[in-house]
Amino acid sequence: MSESTARHALQTPRLVLEPTTPEHAREAWPYLDDERMWEFFPDLRPKTLDDLRALYRRWERGSPFPNRNETWENWLCRSRETGLLLGATQATIVANDTAHIAYGIYVVHRRNGYAREAAHATIEHLQHVHGVRRVLAEMDVRNVASVAVAESLGFRHVETRLGVRRGYGPATGEFVYELCLTRA
Ligand SMILES: CC(C)(COP(=O)(O)OP(=O)(O)OC[C@H]1O[C@@H](n2cnc3c(N)ncnc32)[C@H](O)[C@@H]1OP(=O)(O)O)[C@@H](O)C(=O)NCCC(=O)NCCS
Repeated sequence: MSESTARHALQTPRLVLEPTTPEHAREAWPYLDDERMWEFFPDLRPKTLDDLRALYRRWERGSPFPNRNETWENWLCRSRETGLLLGATQATIVANDTAHIAYGIYVVHRRNGYAREAAHATIEHLQHVHGVRRVLAEMDVRNVASVAVAESLGFRHVETRLGVRRGYGPATGEFVYELCLTRA
């Protein structure tokens, strides 16, 4: 396993966060083959199950940029009660004790607090295992739900970038939210 790859399962009261593997693709595909998952990044949408499997294979290998000294971790969130997949979180750990996170919850499972619970576990992991002190979340300025999740976790808005093409969708703009952590 390369330095840029780290794979840790995480637990929360209601969820298990499993490191993403290509074997997850078939199970996740019905949830991801839904345009509502890709509203703010339509060009990132995998077209087929094979595309999704290939994406998960790349994620499993970790960052393809060894010179950048960054680490990727990707998880799928599974309900401990029902055994169903609910969504995903991801983290890119970059320089200066900083990480970027993202989260997505499948449409039928939204508004149950799962994004906040999964992101909270992801952040604690980044703090305690990777020594991260600063977490950034970037989202389209129209993405009210993502802003609500970030704010509910204590992130604060630090920047607005207008005219950027996040997720290769239509040029609008993105917000940058920041959470500063105390030393673990
Ligand atoms: C953003 C997303 C992950 C939220 O998932 P979720 O599981 O529904 O969020 P939670 O239930 O944990 O909600 C956390 C907080 O955000 C609020 N929230 C969630 N969705 C919201 C919405 N559409 N509008 C307003 N507030 C919303 C919740 O009410 C809760 O706040 P509260 O504690 O004050 O009530 C989900 O909508 C999604 O997957 N969107 C598509 C992918 C995406 O855009 N990801 C973000 C890119 S970083």
